[in-house]
Amino acid sequence: MNDETEMRQKLVRMGTLLYTRQLAHGSAGNLSVRLDDGSILITPTNSSLGFLEAERISKLTPDGELISGDRPSKEYFFHLAVYEERPAAQAIVHLHSTYSVAISCLCHEQTDDVLPPLTAYHVMRVGKLPLVRYFRPGDRALADEVRKVSRDNRSMLLANHGPIVSGASIEEAVYAYEELEETAKLYFLLGDRKTSPLRAEEIAEINRAFPN
Ligand code: 13P
Repeated sequence: MNDETEMRQKLVRMGTLLYTRQLAHGSAGNLSVRLDDGSILITPTNSSLGFLEAERISKLTPDGELISGDRPSKEYFFHLAVYEERPAAQAIVHLHSTYSVAISCLCHEQTDDVLPPLTAYHVMRVGKLPLVRYFRPGDRALADEVRKVSRDNRSMLLANHGPIVSGASIEEAVYAYEELEETAKLYFLLGDRKTSPLRAEEIAEINRAFPN
């Protein structure tokens, strides 16, 4: 049950957590949850995630009409696209956290999974991380591309921008996002050293034990 009052408070608390952990800075990033009636709560555009106010959070119909609250995030199109494509998704986190954004600025030869499966928790929480080609923030063409990729992926990385992670609850989406940022950090920490990512059969075993 996604009770609206409780969900508004959770968005405020998660915003504070992400800001305090320095995963969100300035007014970058946006969070959303889907309520039981299909409407969406999303952070207002240009708001700092560290200082959200529950009653000002934007409430949208599933088609994107503003029901109440401040003007919604300019990225609400891609939030709606993910919800449409992934019925089990109840929350979305999009941030511009340093290490993940750094990965999004690298040249990638293959784009269907741009981080190696370094740890079991990355595989469990994040899964594959496809790269979505660059679009201007707020561009509706970005939402079309996100829609396509989200059919088969709960996480993705927007080129020169940052990740989008969805989950069955706001906690799940936030924890998955944090896991992703830690893997991105490990990736740079390991640098040019020879690493031993998990093998295909190890990944398959994790996915069997922890289906998502
Ligand atoms: P909003 O302030 O409109 O949510 O945009 C921030 C952002 O992260 C753009 O990608």
